[in-house]
Amino acid sequence: MRIGILTSGGDCPGLNAVIRGAVLKGMQIHGQEFVGFRDGWRGVVEGDMVPLGRKEIQGIAKQGGTILGTSRTNPFEGNGGVDRITENLERRGIDAVIAIGGEGTLAAAKRLTDAGLKIVGVPKTVDNDLGATDYTFGFDTAVQIAVDAMDRLRTTGESHSRCMVAEVMGRHVGWIALHSGMAAGAHAILIPEQKTSVEQLAEWVRSAYDRGRAPLVVVAEGFVPDESDDAHSERGLDAFGRPRLGGIGERLAPLIEELTGIETRATTLGHIQRGGTPSAYDRVLATRLGMAASDSVVEGRWGRMVALRGTDIVHVSFEEALGTLKVVPQNRYDEAAILFG
Ligand code: F6P
Repeated sequence: MRIGILTSGGDCPGLNAVIRGAVLKGMQIHGQEFVGFRDGWRGVVEGDMVPLGRKEIQGIAKQGGTILGTSRTNPFEGNGGVDRITENLERRGIDAVIAIGGEGTLAAAKRLTDAGLKIVGVPKTVDNDLGATDYTFGFDTAVQIAVDAMDRLRTTGESHSRCMVAEVMGRHVGWIALHSGMAAGAHAILIPEQKTSVEQLAEWVRSAYDRGRAPLVVVAEGFVPDESDDAHSERGLDAFGRPRLGGIGERLAPLIEELTGIETRATTLGHIQRGGTPSAYDRVLATRLGMAASDSVVEGRWGRMVALRGTDIVHVSFEEALGTLKVVPQNRYDEAAILFG
């Protein structure tokens, strides 16, 4: 069998380990052959491919990013569409596709599978917000990067007796904020799932400061302030038409300063969280998912993605994968909130 692999949507550490896992297992155990599509669905629509053999995947598990490139190309727009993609795959002798991506990628994969194409999925989101899998690779690395940054923010904050605000990723959910904030000893964590007033925030900051601490506030980019209906966005829309988030930390800092009188600085960690080498945990998870995707092709599990449940790799339908957003449950937030102030 000849299989095409693509990575699509925002990148995250571990994508290369998935590619390596799929190719190694596929070649050695199933006798499969592989090619890579460049830049996600763009490569599928335009027939832009690279060879993926033993040589190309050598030593890549520890490399950040994706050797195939990625994009947020919608395969149904422009020159795309089912007919064009079917023709491209047939002409190039590609029997099946492994699509590694998040919500947008899997939604496109589902439409194509419904139209008869043979596609299996591998979940990817640094935000860890897909309901059908316990963890996604990239999340562990992002949390560690955020914690390292927060540890640094705390030492400079302490030197100057300042309040430090760290803004992390998390469009719809606050998993990165919750985990990194707990690990770094944050005095307040603000996430999209929880409405928190600026007065409450000021109270936590003031209480930490009064105990002689330099307050650390962690905020997810998707946090919706009490007085707003939407997350803070000032940079237009991305290719999927979603608002580009970022900047809520800078917006909160002067409010904190005004309400508490404590000098406050904000830092947006941004794409640093998605760059660089994956953690050991992410490399192992990504490798296992890649191997399972190669098995899925042999087993003909079209329209399904591999997922982590406990320590097992399982299979779930695209429908199920797209159905639920994995939000931070109230009890997990309450647990973290015990440490606030
Ligand atoms: O969806 C993952 C994510 O990292 C979000 O947390 C963030 O809003 C977005 O991607 C940023 O994407 P881009 O690479 O388009 O700036």
